[in-house]
Order: sequence, then structure tokens, then C-alpha cells
Amino acid sequence: MKNTFHKGTNFLILALSTLVLSFIPCYADTNVSPGYMCSPEADNSTTVSDSFKTNLNNLLDSLAANVLQSGFYKAAVGKNSNKIYGLIQCRGDVSPTNCANCTNESIKVALHNCTNSKSAAIWFSWCFMRYSSEKFFGTWEGGSVGIYNQTDFDDSTAVLKGIGFMTTLASVTPNQLLLFQTSVLDVGQSGQRFGMAQCGRDLRRSDCGKCLDGQLVSFGASIENLRGWEIYGLGCSMWYRDFQFYSNISTPYSAGGRRLWHGVVGVSMTILSTLTVQTVL
Ligand SMILES: *[C@@H]1O[C@H](CO)[C@@H](O)[C@H](O)[C@H]1NC(C)=O
Ligand SMILES: *[C@@H]1O[C@H](CO)[C@@H](O)[C@H](O)[C@H]1NC(C)=O
Ligand SMILES: *[C@@H]1O[C@H](CO)[C@@H](O)[C@H](O)[C@H]1NC(C)=O
Ligand SMILES: *[C@@H]1O[C@H](CO)[C@@H](O)[C@H](O)[C@H]1NC(C)=O
Ligand SMILES: *[C@@H]1O[C@H](CO)[C@@H](O)[C@H](O)[C@H]1NC(C)=O
Ligand SMILES: *[C@@H]1O[C@H](CO)[C@@H](O)[C@H](O)[C@H]1NC(C)=O
Repeated sequence: MKNTFHKGTNFLILALSTLVLSFIPCYADTNVSPGYMCSPEADNSTTVSDSFKTNLNNLLDSLAANVLQSGFYKAAVGKNSNKIYGLIQCRGDVSPTNCANCTNESIKVALHNCTNSKSAAIWFSWCFMRYSSEKFFGTWEGGSVGIYNQTDFDDSTAVLKGIGFMTTLASVTPNQLLLFQTSVLDVGQSGQRFGMAQCGRDLRRSDCGKCLDGQLVSFGASIENLRGWEIYGLGCSMWYRDFQFYSNISTPYSAGGRRLWHGVVGVSMTILSTLTVQTVL
């Protein structure tokens, strides 16, 4: 079992943060956290100001109160150095009830596991939450984590088709309303393979495509012959399995709350570097 951590343009942020990971396969009816990242590391020796704490609580309340309208919400709370930017996004196939539950779970991690952190990214199977004192909306950053069992090899028919299948999925996902798509690959006697991809709904479509392509380029050689894998990133995530791990709900949310954000052209265009830190679990 291996977690491969590809550092991208946000090297500095990641170098200063805690990254906690665990490998748990993702099923439709369970919500597990593959990991979270706090920066600076959660501890009791440093503190954030009371107004930062108040703003964070208000931000988290606001995310929880508004996410159900469309499965995605972003907000900024506070002023000057205490301003916090945050977003929450539920996976495109997740029901509103599960979205609410996942939002609550993420808030628990934010308050409990990222105490005194100025920024946090929290991944769950059903949702992704992120906040920071730096404005990050609309900016794709390259950091991603690949989670896979490196000895769980797939049959050759599936290996031949798998990456091409996911590359196609990566190319169609940016055109979807919710920047979310699932797809099924038929591999004859080897059965079916299931793919899913999703980008942050604050990203432009073009950056969504670059984010997903970048993950396949970075991790392709490590995952191409495997039966299942998951890649979690700050801007996008991808999943590949030999069973249907997503739910059958087609689109629980209308596009009502979808707004592409057009303000920042940041460092997000930089191609992922392939510096890796490997953690053996
Ligand atoms: C911080 O202190 C609280 C209460 O004393 C404790 O429960 C928590 O585990 C501590 N956190 C860290 C990261 O040391
Ligand atoms: C989430 O938390 C809120 C406030 O604590 C609560 O009212 C709501 O029932 C929770 N939702 C779920 C699905 O757990
Ligand atoms: C989310 O749902 C699970 C299973 O129903 C429950 O155990 C958990 O307490 C819920 N979490 C929150 C924060 O409401
Ligand atoms: C948060 O920390 C608690 C222990 O303090 C741990 O049991 C829990 O698994 C952590 N949450 C996540 C999502 O890793
Ligand atoms: C990894 O895959 C191999 C081959 O299928 C399996 O024997 C092993 O139990 C798997 N390891 C874990 C931790 O799931
Ligand atoms: C989705 O529907 C298919 C066929 O109706 C069924 O076999 C499968 O178990 C369902 N999956 C989930 C996760 O509900």
C-alpha cells in the first residue's frame, strides 16, 4: 500500500502542513475520510486570534447553511488579516441528506483536527471542504495525493483500456454542468470498471481539464496496471474501481448555484512537478 504525494505549485503550503492519510475503499453508502491537510500543523503552542476563530465559525456555519441549495458553496468572512475564504462541495451523485451529513463531518474535522490552523483542506468520500486566509477561489493548485494498493494488479484487458477510458472521462468532465461525471468501461470477461471525476466548481472549465489531465500524467505510471485507485487533489479528484462505488442518483442538484469564477489567473497553470513523497502505510 502506498500513498504517493505529488507536490505541485503549492509546495510551500504543503511543506508547512500536516497531511494525514488513510486507505479506505469508497462505497456508495459510506462516508470515509481519505485524509486532511492543515497548515500550519494543528497544535496547542500557536494560536489564532479570537476574531479569526469567530470568523471561522461563521464561515463554517455559512457553508453548512447554504451548501444544500446546489451542492456547492463558497464564501468569505471577516476583514483584512482575519479574512477567511472557504468552500464546500459535495460529490455530484450525493443526496442532499448525505451532503449535509458530510458537511457536518468536515466541520468536526476542521474544528477538532485542524485546531489553530490558518488553512485546511478536508477530503471525505462525499464532500470536500477547504478554507484559507489566502484567497484561493478559481485558482487551480497542483497538489494531489494518490491512494492505491500497488500490488493489486488488474487483468491485461482492463489494463489496456483503463487509462484511455479515464483520459476520455477527464476530457468530458469539464463540459458537465456540475464538473462531475461517471462512466462505465466494459472489459468483456473481466467485467466492468467504473470511473468518476470531479473538479472544484469554482474552477474554469479549462483549468478543470488541466487539473484532471495533470493527475493522470503524474500518477499514470503508478496506477496504469492497477484494479482500483483514487486521486484526491485541491482542484479535482478521480476514482477508478471494479465495482460501482457511486450512487445511481443522476443529478441531485440543479445547476442553479453553479457559478464559474472568473477573477484570478494565478500560478495554477504550472504543470505538476514529479517530486514525490511516499508514505508507506
Ligand atoms: C490540544 O489541547 C487539547 C486540550 O488540552 C487536547 O485535547 C488536544 O489533543 C491538543 N491538541 C494537540 C494537537 O496537541
Ligand atoms: C448537521 O448539523 C446540523 C446542526 O448541528 C443539524 O441540524 C443537522 O441535522 C445535521 N445534519 C445531518 C444530516 O447530520
Ligand atoms: C452522519 O451520519 C452518520 C451515519 O448515519 C452518523 O453516525 C453521524 O453521526 C452523522 N454525522 C453528523 C456530524 O451528523
Ligand atoms: C481527527 O482526530 C481524531 C483523534 O483526535 C481521529 O480519531 C480522527 O480519525 C481524525 N479525523 C480524521 C478525518 O482523520
Ligand atoms: C493489495 O492487493 C493484494 C492483491 O490483490 C491483496 O492480496 C492485498 O491484501 C491488498 N492489500 C490491502 C492492504 O488491501
Ligand atoms: C445502481 O443500479 C444498478 C442497476 O440498477 C445496481 O446494480 C447497483 O447496485 C446500483 N448501485 C448503487 C450504488 O446503488
